[in-house]
Amino acid sequence: MKGVILAGGLGKRLYPLTKITNKHLLPIFSKPMIYYPLETLLEAGIHDILIVTGGSNAGDFLRLLGDGAEFGNCHLNYTYQQGEGGIAQALNLAAHFVGKDKAVVMLGDNIIEKSIAPYVEKFQKQSAGARVLLKEVEDPERFGVAEIRGEQIVSIEEKPIYPKSSYIVIGIYLYDSNVFDVVKTLKPSARGELEITDVNNFYVSKGLMEYDLLDGWWSDAGTFDSLLRANNLVAEKMKETERVR
Ligand code: DAU
Repeated sequence: MKGVILAGGLGKRLYPLTKITNKHLLPIFSKPMIYYPLETLLEAGIHDILIVTGGSNAGDFLRLLGDGAEFGNCHLNYTYQQGEGGIAQALNLAAHFVGKDKAVVMLGDNIIEKSIAPYVEKFQKQSAGARVLLKEVEDPERFGVAEIRGEQIVSIEEKPIYPKSSYIVIGIYLYDSNVFDVVKTLKPSARGELEITDVNNFYVSKGLMEYDLLDGWWSDAGTFDSLLRANNLVAEKMKETERVR
């Protein structure tokens, strides 16, 4: 199983915070944002990781993380996304790295409380297809929203005006290696991006999409409000961990 962290894009919603640095290098409580997805993958036993960077400060990822030695058993690789063509475009840059393997793909601005190991284990046993993690939220219209019937996702809508449920697809995706063939079929959306939701809907349409409900809190960090929320959630978690020690 390979790991891919998508840390490209220009982070325009956080301007001017992202004027001179990449969003994923901004602080979340005591560490740069990129540490959190990295630690989530490592904790789940995924040690071969590709970071897709972008923008004008990509070299700073190397200065910060180097070869990953400070994280112990960790093999870091890097690539670069030109421009901001969407999450699926960034993912496509991982095709050579993932090869015929399966991959856990994490958006670099997604931060979670608990381990993803149980979901990774289930995906390892899944013969083919994809798996997404859902979370119930109060503002589903900001995200990819899943319509669920029984045990199946029947559709996912990206940022709908009228969400069909309050369950959103968070930015942790588990894919078989066919995902790169799916990306090749995509056309840019109205906002000019190759959408990860279109990738996921392909798997849904083939009956090859499974899901789990994420245990514990989740936050993205791509807006001022969610960045503050992520900081507060991580701060509380750290303090709680210290209290228990
Ligand atoms: O956070 C979960 C949500 O993330 C999902 O529910 C949505 O379905 C998904 O589209 C995405 O929505 P956002 O609009 O919040 O995505 P955003 O453009 O903020 O990008 C999220 C991360 O993806 C970003 O931190 C880095 C990576 N990315 C994004 C773009 C547009 C890239 O690496 N390259 C890109 O071109």
